[in-house]
Amino acid sequence: MTATAAPSTSPAPSKPSWDKGLANTIAAETEMSFIDGAKGILEYVGIEIDSLARNSTFEETVFLLWNRRLPKRDELAAFEASLRAEYGLPSEMDDFIRAIPKTATPMHALRTMISALGTLDPEADDDSLEANQRKALKLVAKTPALIANFDRHRSGKPLAKPDASQNIAGSFLTMLTGQKPTDAMNRALDVCLILHADHGLNASTFAARVTIATLSDMYSAMTTAVGTLKGPLHGGANEEVMVMLNEIGSIDRVDAYIRAKLAKKDLVMGFGHRVYKTVDPRATYLKTFSKQVASDTGNMKLYELSHAIEQLMAAEVGPKGIWPNVDFYSATTYHSLGLKLDLFTPMFAMSRMSGWSGHCIEQLRDNRLIRPMASYVGPHGVAYVLMASR
Ligand code: CMC
Repeated sequence: MTATAAPSTSPAPSKPSWDKGLANTIAAETEMSFIDGAKGILEYVGIEIDSLARNSTFEETVFLLWNRRLPKRDELAAFEASLRAEYGLPSEMDDFIRAIPKTATPMHALRTMISALGTLDPEADDDSLEANQRKALKLVAKTPALIANFDRHRSGKPLAKPDASQNIAGSFLTMLTGQKPTDAMNRALDVCLILHADHGLNASTFAARVTIATLSDMYSAMTTAVGTLKGPLHGGANEEVMVMLNEIGSIDRVDAYIRAKLAKKDLVMGFGHRVYKTVDPRATYLKTFSKQVASDTGNMKLYELSHAIEQLMAAEVGPKGIWPNVDFYSATTYHSLGLKLDLFTPMFAMSRMSGWSGHCIEQLRDNRLIRPMASYVGPHGVAYVLMASR
C-alpha cells in the first residue's frame, strides 16, 4: 500500500505583479455597467448611456441597474412609490444635522450624515440580501434630503421635508431652493443623475466593495465611498472645474491660463480619465445638453468659455488621449442650474449611491475578502535600539 499525500485545497500560489494604481487589474465582476475606454462607450446593463440620457429617468435607471432589466409601467410606478415612501429622514437626524458646524463643507457633512443614518437603522448590520436591498433603497431615497437640509442648515434656513409628489430631482431642488423647479430644471438634474449613476470599478465603487467585502455593512460602505468620491482626482473634479472657469473669467484669458498650466505640468480639471482615452461619452452628451441649459438660463458665456478650453486642450493634449470627462460639462450644467459650487460633488454622490449600493449587493453575491499585497521596500534585519541608546 502506498501512502497518498493529503489533497490540497489551495491553488498553487501565483506570482503577484506590481500594478501601480491597479490600472491593469480586474478586481470584480459586474453586470451593471460596461466601459470601452478606447471607443468611448458606456452602457448600463447593455443600454448605451446616450439612449438612457435621452429617454430614461433616474428612477428607471436605478431600477435597471438593480434588476438588470427595464421595468414595465406598473413595476416602475411601484418602484417610484417605494422610493418616495423612504424620502423622509428619521426625526433624530434633524438635531444631528443642526449639530454639524455650518462651516463644514457639504462633502464632509454628507460623509458624516450617511454614517449617522446607519446608527438609526435597526437593520444596519443585517447582511441578508433583502435587508441590503431595503438599505440601498433608503440610501438613494434619503440622500437628497441630507444634502439639501445640510445646505439649509448652513444658510440659516429651517430644515425642509421632502416632497413625495415629485421625483428625486424635483423633491431635491424644492428642498434646496424652497421653490418647485421648472420642468426643464428638473429634467436637467435628472439627466445628470442618470449619467452619474454607475461607472464600473471607479475609485469610490472599489472602496465601497472593499468595505462590504469585509462583511462590514452597507452604511459603512457608503460612508467609505463618499469619502473616496470627495477627492479632486475623482468626484471632486467638477467643483475644481468651476473654480478654474471662475479663475479664467473670459475667453481671451483661456489661452494663457491653459498653456501656463500645461507648461507647469499641472492638471487641467475635467480632463483625462483612467479608462477613456477618447472623449468620455457622458461628456459628449453633457456638452450638447449643457449648451441648451446654458442658453435657457442666460449662461452662454460660461458654455463658450468651456468650449474654448475644450478646443485648446484637444489640440494640445488630445493626441495623448486626454479629453473632457463627465466632470467638465457637468460643472457648466450645475452652475447654469444655479447650484452652489460645493454642492456639485454631493450631487454626484446622490446619484452614485445607486451604483455603490448595487455593487455592494453584487459583491456579497459571491464574496471574497479584497486584500491585495504591498511590495515592501524598506530595510530588513534592523536591530531594535533601546530608548536610552537612541
Ligand atoms: N491635465 C493635464 N494633463 C493630464 C491630465 C489633465 N487633466 N490628466 C492626465 N494628464 C497627463 C498626466 O500628467 C500624464 O502626463 P505624463 O505622461 O507626461 O506624465 C498623462 O496625462 C497620463 O496621466 P495619468 O496621471 O497617468 O493618468 P491616470 O489614469 O493616472 O489619471 C485622472 C486619470 C482622471 C486621475 C487624471 O486624468 C486627472 O487627474 N484628471 C484631472 C482630474 C479629473 O478631471 N478627474 C475626474 C475623472 S472622471 C470622473 C470621476 O471619476 O470622478
